[in-house]
Amino acid sequence: MSRPLKRHPALQPFSREHHQILLLGFKIRQGLKKEIEPERIVNYCLWFYKAYLKVHFEKEVQILSKVVSGNSDLIARLAANHQKVKGSLKTLTTSENSLKQFEKVIVSHVRLEERILFEELQSKLTPDAIQYLESTLKEQNFREHLQDVFWH
Ligand SMILES: [Fe+2]
Repeated sequence: MSRPLKRHPALQPFSREHHQILLLGFKIRQGLKKEIEPERIVNYCLWFYKAYLKVHFEKEVQILSKVVSGNSDLIARLAANHQKVKGSLKTLTTSENSLKQFEKVIVSHVRLEERILFEELQSKLTPDAIQYLESTLKEQNFREHLQDVFWH
């Protein structure tokens, strides 16, 4: 078991969004296990990106760029990580392998941010940065795509 990470409260809205993103991984795994038509799983992934993940990525880059105080390397790694997810989404097909691959990319994107990037970031947050995050960062509301809850 890995040690649970203690997330700075100012960054917790992003971590709660990450939880929602990890749930996407769970839904894909469930869909595959239950042998749901792959089109339905792919459609859900595309919907999730448009409805939630896209905004999460944009907000992360935009808000965190303001608080890294000169550590642009961290933002570059964050953006590269996002690019990997977007690339994997672009090539997503209805083959089982493609869905499994996409699930892996989604989950590892969250792990990298939570275990490495956010850990690094929060160790260097200045009081101004904390105040900025507290006043700017709000958790994005998640509205489930209720038309097809195939993982239930
Ligand atoms: Fe993220």
